[in-house]
Amino acid sequence: MASKKPIPLVVGNWKMNPSTLAEAKRLVVQLRTLARKFTPDVSVVVVPPSIYLSDLTRLSPSGRLQFGVQNVWPGSTGAQTGEISVSMASSCGATYVIIGHSERRASGETDEQIAAKYQSVAASKLTPILCVGEATRDPSGDYYAVVETQLTRALAGSKKAQLKRTVIAYEPVWAIGTGQTSTPADVEEMRLFIDKCLTKLFDRATARAVRVLYGGSVNQKNATELFIHGGVDGFLVGGASLRSAEFARIVASVSST
Ligand code: 13P
Repeated sequence: MASKKPIPLVVGNWKMNPSTLAEAKRLVVQLRTLARKFTPDVSVVVVPPSIYLSDLTRLSPSGRLQFGVQNVWPGSTGAQTGEISVSMASSCGATYVIIGHSERRASGETDEQIAAKYQSVAASKLTPILCVGEATRDPSGDYYAVVETQLTRALAGSKKAQLKRTVIAYEPVWAIGTGQTSTPADVEEMRLFIDKCLTKLFDRATARAVRVLYGGSVNQKNATELFIHGGVDGFLVGGASLRSAEFARIVASVSST
């Protein structure tokens, strides 16, 4: 039986932006109008700095605009200065958690830490967005092995039901914030490769349930082609998610309405 296509998902990763709560609130007010227009055909998620989370979720009580956090620490409470837990994120209105973003890997986050974070999010009600992606694209194709290793180390040992709720974000590091984007054909190939890896780790039905996003210099000009020909279920957007009109066009590019 053919599986139903999942609802497209567009996630705005604000990273360490904007610089004030007032600006963040203004952006959410603009985006909630957008969410009203496109949901339920598209799931729209905003991932602000977590210090803003409670104030921002209060501005969108309908739940149409969903929220996430950019990182968590495994465990619910404890002596971890500066960290937040899954239960804290959840109690402040987050429903998604980004795990293993390359900017965190670059500042020393290990595969073991990412696996522990994945386990703690997967065991909760929140949806994990696991980021994978190669630093460089070598002609010999070693980047496939890089992505397979990242997937295997983060996901090995997890339950099929948890994986089915997981989102994988393929974000080649060289494309992040550089204006250089993967071609739709390369994105499609990587999507198929991720399906293959997940089938090997779990099984075909489980792999097919997993949503795969592309991230890396997605903008209003390239989004439609990447979505149609890249075979992905949506996008993880950085810089362009801070400009509401451009983010709206990216969301429109994955919507059938
Ligand atoms: P840019 O869209 O700015 O390249 O960032 C992508 C990203 O890192 C999203 O998590």
